[in-house]
Amino acid sequence: MGDSQRVAYLNGGWVPETKSSVSVFDLGVLYGQMVFEFTRTYNRKPFRLVHHLQRLYNSMQVADIDCGLTMDEMYDLTMELLERNMHTLADGDDFGVWHNCSPGIQTQYQDMAPQSSRPTVTINVWPISLFKPDQWIHQSIGMDAVITPQRTVPSKLIDPKVKNRSRMHYRMAEVQAARIKPGSMAILVDDDGHISEGTSCNVMLVRDGTLVSPEPRNILRGVTRGAIIDLAQALEIPFVETNLDPYDVYTADEAFFCSTSFAIMPIRTVDDHRISEGIPGPVTQRIIDAFSDDVGIDFIQQARELFDLPEPALAH
Ligand SMILES: Cc1ncc(COP(=O)(O)O)c(C=O)c1O
Repeated sequence: MGDSQRVAYLNGGWVPETKSSVSVFDLGVLYGQMVFEFTRTYNRKPFRLVHHLQRLYNSMQVADIDCGLTMDEMYDLTMELLERNMHTLADGDDFGVWHNCSPGIQTQYQDMAPQSSRPTVTINVWPISLFKPDQWIHQSIGMDAVITPQRTVPSKLIDPKVKNRSRMHYRMAEVQAARIKPGSMAILVDDDGHISEGTSCNVMLVRDGTLVSPEPRNILRGVTRGAIIDLAQALEIPFVETNLDPYDVYTADEAFFCSTSFAIMPIRTVDDHRISEGIPGPVTQRIIDAFSDDVGIDFIQQARELFDLPEPALAH
């Protein structure tokens, strides 16, 4: 959008969003050597920013990227970014915030690069209302999911706990899911055939009143997932982490995806197996209500208003 008034943080300075480009010689562009975070605001306040930054710094530590900023400095820059952009945000809207860190421009290209900075650090915002509504509508009617032939990359190869931009396997899973069932979201299994996660979200089941998650071995340990585990404890909903097979998903009482962008997304079918009659199921609804209380906004109502979505209806 050429007329954006938003500003971004790029390698030590503030630039108009439209000028916030990264060099073609950047190692993130060349080889996907980039770690990142996506945080969102609720009521204009960042949700669990410290958790996201902690994960970002853990990712950098594992990938041996020194971004040259302390976590406190990154926190302050993020708050300043929000402050600098808040006046551009429409009423009722919120921001997503991206942090990207790469080792920077590959050494042999340093002299040719338009900005010869090592490392590359960007932080930028994007209004939630500018995301495509086609996912959000499923908060009312439930999402179809497909377990894809594409598997997750196991932690013994590249650890998915490191939130990184080398995401070709997620793209393959999305392409496959769209071919198998248009409009569906992918669920990947790991090396051993156990359920891992979606391409940008975690998966949770409800079985006999218990919240069940895949063991957090071959998944990104989502900040939203962590918030939901905390809420389940407060609500006295039992929680277990265990190995899950496709069979466990097909026979679950309820299932949902969770992620920073849409928070909680009920799943209505997996591989055409009907999961839950009501959308959301009763336990999912309790978690949605508690999550809304926690963030101080009915996030599903907000999505309905931002994207002009229909009121919730029982899926059939
Ligand atoms: C692969 C993957 N799993 C899970 C998640 C959910 O993580 P969070 O709740 O921190 O957004 C994401 C978010 O982008 C993701 O990319």
